[in-house]
Formats: sequence, C-alpha cells, structure tokens
Amino acid sequence: MFESIQTTGDDSILGLIEKFKNDPNPEKVDLGVGVYRDAAGVTPIMRAVKLAEEQLLKTETTKTYTDSHGDPEFGRAAMAMAFGHDSAIIKQGRVAATQTPGGSAALRLAAGLMASEFPHKTAWLPTPTWPNHLALLSSAGLPLARYPYLDDREELDFDAMLAGLQQIPEGDVVLLHACCHNPTGYDLSNAQWHEVLAVIQQRHLLPLIDCAYLGLGDGLDEDAYGLRLLADNLDEMLVTFSCCKNFGIYAERTGCLFIIAGNSQILAEARSSVAAVARSLYSSPPGHGSSIVKTILASDTLYPIWRAELDAMRDRIKAMRSQLVTGLQDCGLGRQFDHILEQKGLFSYTGLSADQVEYLRRQHSVYLIASGRANIAGLTPDNVDYTCRAIAQAVAQACDPA
Ligand code: LMR
Repeated sequence: MFESIQTTGDDSILGLIEKFKNDPNPEKVDLGVGVYRDAAGVTPIMRAVKLAEEQLLKTETTKTYTDSHGDPEFGRAAMAMAFGHDSAIIKQGRVAATQTPGGSAALRLAAGLMASEFPHKTAWLPTPTWPNHLALLSSAGLPLARYPYLDDREELDFDAMLAGLQQIPEGDVVLLHACCHNPTGYDLSNAQWHEVLAVIQQRHLLPLIDCAYLGLGDGLDEDAYGLRLLADNLDEMLVTFSCCKNFGIYAERTGCLFIIAGNSQILAEARSSVAAVARSLYSSPPGHGSSIVKTILASDTLYPIWRAELDAMRDRIKAMRSQLVTGLQDCGLGRQFDHILEQKGLFSYTGLSADQVEYLRRQHSVYLIASGRANIAGLTPDNVDYTCRAIAQAVAQACDPA
C-alpha cells in the first residue's frame, strides 16, 4: 500500500537543518532556521531557564494531565506578558488562554475553531508570510487568500497593504504579524497600527495575530504595541503566542492561543469549541516549557535575569545587523543592503534571489532560505566577514553570469 506514496519535497526551512549538518565545509554559516545563536554560534539554554528547571526539580510534585486548556497559571502569566499587567480585557474577563504545543499548534487551533464554527470565512495572509502559515491554516480546511505587504523592491508597501485590507470582505479573518515579521523583518510603525485598526473596524474583520517573537524586535512592551492597541479597541480577536523564542525553549514547544471575546459568556462558549479541537488533535499540551515560563514570570529573582538575557539577545542581533551592512558596504556593495537596518527581529529579507541563495550554499556553504530570508542571529563576529565576501561574490556572479 505504501509503495504509492510519493516523496514530498523538503520543508523550505526545516529541510536546511539536515543539509547544513551534513556540509563538511568548516567555514559553513547557518542563516536558515529561525533560532537565536550567541556569538559562539550556539543556541544556548538561558540561565533563567536553567535556574527555573533546578527549582522545578525540587518542587514539582506531579506530571499528570491537564485539561485541553493546559496550565491556568501559565495562561495567566502569558496573558499578562502579552497584554500588560493593567490590561482592561484581563480585568473584564474577556480574554483566556488555551496552552498549546508551541505557536504552530495555536495557529492550527485557531484555524480549527474558524473552520468548525465559521467554515465560509476566508483567512487573509500577507504576501509574503511564514510558509507554514499556509500549511497550518489550510490543513484545517480554512479557505485562504492574500493581501500585499511588500513592493517590487521587496520593501514594506504600507499603502498597498492598507488598500489590500480594505478589499477584504466584511467578517473575514486577517492574519497580522505582531512584530519581527517572518520572513521579511519589516514591522508596522505605531502610527501604521492605528490605520490598520481603523480598517479592521470599518470592515468588521477578525484579526488573527501571530505573536512569535515578542521582545526580540525593540523590547517586550514596544513589540506588543499593535497587539495591545487592537486588543484594547476590538470586541473579538484571536492571538497565537509563542514562548519558544523569547525563552529559548524551542524544543519544549510552549505557546498558547488567546481568545478575546465581547463578554465572558461568549468567551466560555468559544473556549469549549477550542478545547474540542485540541482534544481531537493532541488532547492536552506538554507541561515542561509552560512550567519554566510561569516560574520565571512569577519570580522576583528569575524575572530580571531573564529580561537581561532577552535584552542581550536583542542587542546582539542588532549589532550583527549593522556589522553585516557595514561589511557589505566594505565589499563594494554601496548602499544596496541598507534596508537590512530597518528590519527587526531575527529575520531579514535580504533581496537576494533564489539563484544567489543557491550559489551561496553551493560555493560558500552559506545557508539562507530560498526566498532570500536570512536569520541574522546566525551571524557572529567570526563569520560575518566571510559571509559578506560570499554575498558580494553572489551579487557579482548574478551581474556577470559568464
Ligand atoms: C522559522 O521560521 O525559521 C521558525 O519559525 C522555525 C519554523 O518552524 O519554521
């Protein structure tokens, strides 16, 4: 029976992990999958996480199941982190969390809720977006459509985005990236978020906000500006939230789906539908990552350690962004790559073509996603010059293919 199964192509992001691992070149540079790396090129376990784990080892008394919503203490802690301790929607009991195995499962749950309760609604995604958005949302049976995000030069085209949002049929779902847009790195300014809110209100759209990189752009509260603006001004919203990146606990698959509803009664009904979807997919979420996060967020000693580590990660990414741009200028590329400085978070849409990306991988063992997305956190003081020289050669090669 299985002979009829055709090999599916490698995942455009995760497929690179294996290729990179098998590359024998000692100078290889991994700018592929979106994980933080330190100056030694390692994805470290944060000190606050290790300390929380030591604490849990002594105090944890059970690893029994939770219900499909997961650990309520984690949910409350994540809610305060996302919406702020003084958030009106929290005080009004209009928001609740369903813990999920990472932000991906939160997206799948949101899609499952929409597909089972509102099967005729379409979800509108920016072009480009994280490729797995398409797979996660469509696998629930949700119809998908796109709105523009970039111009021909691959820079943020806010006018086109706004015009695209204005065309969306009333009541449809619009997916927005809260911060550190994946794959481009282009975020909306605070003023632009206000304009997006106005369109959402005019068109009665349901925002689905994907918040996977809070704290890695400009800061925890700064990165939450758009998310909180919409939460404070709309009756209903879905938010998919990941703690995998900002706590560096990728393999612990830690996240949640927040539902915001007009009142607590409507919220309870929506939550029961989400619980049924979770039960049919994975039953209940894993507990180790959520225990780490709630321990850190509740601790007067661990919280400042974590915040300082998060700040240091962000500062390192910013420093590598500017070293990359300076290095490319030094390689004679002028201001061609200056847009990288405007982008935020782990990712940068470099503007390199798929052919140039392929050339970089084959000739120099520098790994980017075919779209030209680079994980800036893969750069280190030791590999940035090598990477710049390789990019300069890829650009020269494209200009003079002979
Ligand atoms: C990425 O975009 O590289 C990360 O979100 C990892 C993934 O699952 O794609």
